Amino acid sequence: MLRVVVLVSGGGTNLQAIIDAIEAGRITNAQIVAVISNNPGVKSLERAKKAGIPAFCISPKSFADRELFHEALLAKIDEFGPDLVVLAGFLVRIPKTMVHKYSNRIVNIHPSLIPSFCGVGYYGLKVHEKVLERGVKVTGATVHFVNEGMDEGPIIAQKAVYVEQSDTPEILQRRVMEQAEWQLLPAAIDDIANGRISVVDGRVIRKED
Ligand code: GRF
Repeated sequence: MLRVVVLVSGGGTNLQAIIDAIEAGRITNAQIVAVISNNPGVKSLERAKKAGIPAFCISPKSFADRELFHEALLAKIDEFGPDLVVLAGFLVRIPKTMVHKYSNRIVNIHPSLIPSFCGVGYYGLKVHEKVLERGVKVTGATVHFVNEGMDEGPIIAQKAVYVEQSDTPEILQRRVMEQAEWQLLPAAIDDIANGRISVVDGRVIRKED
């Protein structure tokens, strides 16, 4: 049984997609053992509590400096002995110590087709604003392992979503969530939980059934 800790920052729709997928049997051999938010009072914490999952807030504002926050976050994660850490709308840069400790055991969902529209400053709605500004016709989402870079780790899965003429950033964000993020992340967790994923020379290999 894959022990999964999910890190969140806000609404938690990707967390909810994972909870629902486990409930529906679309993810097997995995359980969410804890949810940790860097922000207090967010919907993602309510979603965890409603699902009976231990939920915590580790806020940078509660610590004298970033280092102490990183230590507290890592200590809380370690407490649950996860096999996999999932960044589901988590907007905090993962410290190098954690990337090394959980090498190829941290996955992130990013709302674009990496390597487009990613890296420093590309998160949440900003990604979709840039997509519309550039006038690309296809965007999407990417699930990838987290390494020391920003959105540079081995890509696990991607899904394309068409941009429509009438899109606003909000409408596009919602479509990318519905048609890509909420499908990709649960599917990737199920693949990892059932031993279908390996990383060879920095690239992800998926074992077909
Ligand atoms: C989404 O745009 C997601 O792609 C990004 O964070 C945003 C909020 O996600 N990673 P959620 O609703 O908190 O899961």
